[in-house]
Amino acid sequence: MKRLKIASLPGDGVGKEVVPAAQTVLKAVSNVHGGMQFDFTEYPWSCEYYLEHNQMMPDDALERLQDADAIFLGAVGNQKLVPDHISLWGMLIKIRREFEQVINIRPAKLLKGITSPLTNPKDFDLLVVRENSEGEYSEVGGRIFRGEDEVAIQNAIFSRRGTERAMRYAFELAAKRRKHVTSATKSNGIVHSMPFWDEVFQAVKSDYPDIESDSQHIDALAAFFVTQPQRFDVIVASNLFGDVLTDIGAAIMGSIGIAPAANINVNGKYPSMFEPVHGSAPDIVGKGIANPIGQIWTAKLMLDHFGEEELGVKLLDIIEDVTAARILTPDLGGKYATEDVTAAIVDRVHKL
Ligand code: NAD
Ligand code: IPM
Ligand code: MN
Repeated sequence: MKRLKIASLPGDGVGKEVVPAAQTVLKAVSNVHGGMQFDFTEYPWSCEYYLEHNQMMPDDALERLQDADAIFLGAVGNQKLVPDHISLWGMLIKIRREFEQVINIRPAKLLKGITSPLTNPKDFDLLVVRENSEGEYSEVGGRIFRGEDEVAIQNAIFSRRGTERAMRYAFELAAKRRKHVTSATKSNGIVHSMPFWDEVFQAVKSDYPDIESDSQHIDALAAFFVTQPQRFDVIVASNLFGDVLTDIGAAIMGSIGIAPAANINVNGKYPSMFEPVHGSAPDIVGKGIANPIGQIWTAKLMLDHFGEEELGVKLLDIIEDVTAARILTPDLGGKYATEDVTAAIVDRVHKL
């Protein structure tokens, strides 16, 4: 029996609705599988926790998470209670950094039965590899002076090691897919980091002669995501570019509520963290209509991570069977509730 310790962090808002939904699916998957069991330990860390303890997580949080086989996170953020930069840097970004989850993989593909906002979408199936530890997300900088003289300085950090690591990861993934990598750049406007990014990309690509590659400015690339998403296989992007691109990827799939993501610790020292692309969705919280597919597809990425790719493929097929049957939450134009979509998926898992 493979026993997997999962640290469950529902977090804030709809995270508390979709994490339990996805856990129900994972339990059903393990019942069918027989040889695998998930032991969930839930931690209540959130903005509400902050109000009580003046911190997002206790001092020993990372020690407590360290032994988990994976972390399963919903969403963090409730701006009514805690400013975003405090809640996110105190929890989500802190875990990504301390646990060296330097790569964020975010697939986007068209699922059956879902109407994309694109008028005439061709089948697309792309994967964004987002550098997850540096780039534009940096604490280097500060604010000086006051009033009209005030200046905010925000430095971006691009290390050769971090940049190359993300690019190699993208090429390795492309080798198992359609063998094409696109680099998201902005070397026409950003004068230090992006020419450096291009140089590293040129060097890395020469190690992968069997993989085709190209480089696109991020603005044009964002437009191509809307007009021709089918032309992309793997895209490698800096932290911020990858963040924005993957919300576009989610949007062209039909809803940000279905997009999955995996924060990968590549050196095996710490657990990886599985967390959908979307946030805490304060506008729909408590209504029971949050789309659970983002979190459930994220669970599929966790199965892949545990070497259960076959099961992962089956789970995605089941998700697609449910979307094809138009059992959809309102964000996708349906009338169903979170629990209806979850039940339809669990039902099909039982029949595996
Ligand atoms: P958001 O992703 O929470 O919401 C954007 C829109 O998408 C909203 O209309 C929302 O209702 C919809 N949406 C999101 N998830 C959905 C789901 N599962 N089903 C149906 N609709 C869904 O982005 P935001 O409004 O910019 O952020 C809200 C809060 O979440 C902020 O505090 C933000 O910082 C935080 N946030 C956290 C994460 C994370 O923890 N990974 C990611 C993004 C945003
Ligand atoms: C994401 C989110 C986070 C990010 C925010 C909430 C800090 O948007 O996971 O996509 O920018 O990484
Ligand atoms: Mn984002």
